[in-house]
Amino acid sequence: MTRKLFVTTALPYANANFHIGHIMEYTQADIWVRFQRMRGQEVHFVGADDAHGAPIMIAAEKAGKTPQQFVADIAAGRKTYLDGFHISFDNWHSTDGPENHELSKEIYKALRANELISVKTIEQFFDPEKSMFLPDRFIKGECPKCGAKDQYGDSCEVCGAVYTPTELKNPFSVLTGATPVMKSSEHYFFKLSDPRCIEFLEQWTQTPGRLQSEVLNKIKEWFTKDDEGKGGLGDWDISRDAPYFGIEIPDAPGKYFYVWLDAPIGYLASLKNYFGKLGRDFDAFMADESVEQIHFIGKDITYFHTLFWPAMLHFSGRKTPNHVYVHGFLTVNNGEKMSKSRGTGLDPLKYLSLGLNAEWLRYYLAAKLNAKVEDVDFNPEDFVARVNSDLVGKYINIASRAAGFLAKRFDGRLSADLGVEGRALLDTLRAHADTIAELYEERELGKALREIMLLADKVNEYVDQNKPWELAKKEGADAVLQDVCSVCIEAFRLLTIYLKPVLPALAAKVETFLKVEPMQFADSARALGAHQIGVYEHLMQRVDPKLLEALFEPPAAPKVVPGGEDLAPEIKIDDFTKVDLRIAKIVKAEHVEGSDKLLRLTLDVGEGRLRNVFSGIKSAYKPEDLEGKLTVMVANLAPRKMKFGISEGMVLAASHADEKTNPGIFVLEPFPGAQPGMRVR
Ligand code: 2FM
Ligand code: ZN
Repeated sequence: MTRKLFVTTALPYANANFHIGHIMEYTQADIWVRFQRMRGQEVHFVGADDAHGAPIMIAAEKAGKTPQQFVADIAAGRKTYLDGFHISFDNWHSTDGPENHELSKEIYKALRANELISVKTIEQFFDPEKSMFLPDRFIKGECPKCGAKDQYGDSCEVCGAVYTPTELKNPFSVLTGATPVMKSSEHYFFKLSDPRCIEFLEQWTQTPGRLQSEVLNKIKEWFTKDDEGKGGLGDWDISRDAPYFGIEIPDAPGKYFYVWLDAPIGYLASLKNYFGKLGRDFDAFMADESVEQIHFIGKDITYFHTLFWPAMLHFSGRKTPNHVYVHGFLTVNNGEKMSKSRGTGLDPLKYLSLGLNAEWLRYYLAAKLNAKVEDVDFNPEDFVARVNSDLVGKYINIASRAAGFLAKRFDGRLSADLGVEGRALLDTLRAHADTIAELYEERELGKALREIMLLADKVNEYVDQNKPWELAKKEGADAVLQDVCSVCIEAFRLLTIYLKPVLPALAAKVETFLKVEPMQFADSARALGAHQIGVYEHLMQRVDPKLLEALFEPPAAPKVVPGGEDLAPEIKIDDFTKVDLRIAKIVKAEHVEGSDKLLRLTLDVGEGRLRNVFSGIKSAYKPEDLEGKLTVMVANLAPRKMKFGISEGMVLAASHADEKTNPGIFVLEPFPGAQPGMRVR
């Protein structure tokens, strides 16, 4: 029976490009999906941008765009990554699409009809200047535990304490600098603590085979109340007050769904949008009991996907996920976490632009992935070793060793006989098809590749024992040479079938070379026989380790010559206009405790909020001499996390190239008449 699979990956926030963590998740899911397609299953693999929420609304405002335009601009960049890494989504949509607005309202109304929505008045911090309630991330102040300045409203980056925004000392709004006030407002809650929800979730999560064991353990913790009766499942606040970029809650003017309510519904919305294009009945498909709904996600969003999401679906009368497959984080060089906001380390776009082969990365990630919730470490030496020794050394070489003789001596014709030894080898390779398929099915990608490489070892042993290069010189050995090379090509075809979910572009090249139709998994059971193959062209290079060094190299520092500084390379006017220079007023200048170089500047760039910028000008200026002055800043520089807090831009200053021997720093000041916020062009 053909399986019907509805598969998703987590929807990325539409406020940044993909980082390598996204690419790892998509690769994991894509390999699984391609495997299922090769087995003849009906698969619908969809994604979308997660468009809503306060951070995106504020980022859009900062960029001078409507949230819709902002999100559309990010969406426009997705294709380069998805095509570049061969990620085969059937559809890519947005949670701001009409399908999601409609479905979110439908689901909410069904929950309300089921008496699972309650309304409570809660008190929250409110920015009186901006007239908006502040999410935790937009409130800062001094840590209540250690007193560190400039800490976010939920946790301290210096001492690690976790608290609520109301515990901060001297809180201020990140948007305007204003002191937030407590204000009450009505919020809508999804009653997750309702006994019906708890009973359902206990049964849903415990269903054998649905979730990974580590995930189940985590869920048990979430269900458990401590001795004081704290913990356990609480009601979930699903509303936010205007202004908010999101979906309006029916019959609740000025209230919007919290982004995490409509985000997973975006999975359904993307499928519905896709089925709309195909002219297929979405409702009928989702009502089909046999459809398997599968979500690939990262471990940080397990709570949303294993508690809120199934409960929302179940109590609105919909099918619930069959599996939620959770993976760990990707670290680089043993440690540094690829967080969502700081895509440090390995930039996927730089990877592609350096000409590194996307399938090397797919192979490497697959080799490291398993079905557990374990972190995966990207290690450059390991990467080079696996690609060069295994992928190219063991697998690609099989074809290159045999193809030349076949072309030159036999016009590309394979023999049908193959010899006893050769047939036995191929039987062994074929006998592993089920094991390999099972490993793919279970997402044990590393094990699947190990199994395939062990088979490649066997083929190489066969080549070494039969020595085609010697047969080629031996008189009267033509038939044996043709047999041996044919065995190699047939073996190479089988290995390519097994590797195709991981290496789709390479497999397509192999199909052209072998002159065969696109290969399905079941094609491993049959033999090519007396078939004529095409001309072998080199299929895959080895990695040059220098490329990996370049990948991790920070951008080159400008060259310095005695007595001056080389001009930077020529740029076009478009390059210059990318830099948004603005007149900024220095509202406040302060020393930074613990730094002998930096001053902390509070700048007004005419945006209705203040910016925090660290500037290395302490040696040249007293804070009080700067306050009230105008200067020029780079206003669209990505915020940078420094030891002392986040720096949201850069103030322009002149200095000699050799600052040590030739000191002096001179901050720029505009002629009179310039005003904060004016663009410098
Ligand atoms: O954590 C995130 O990046 C979220 N944007 C994931 C949402 S997944 C789904 F619910 F949409
Ligand atoms: Zn602290």
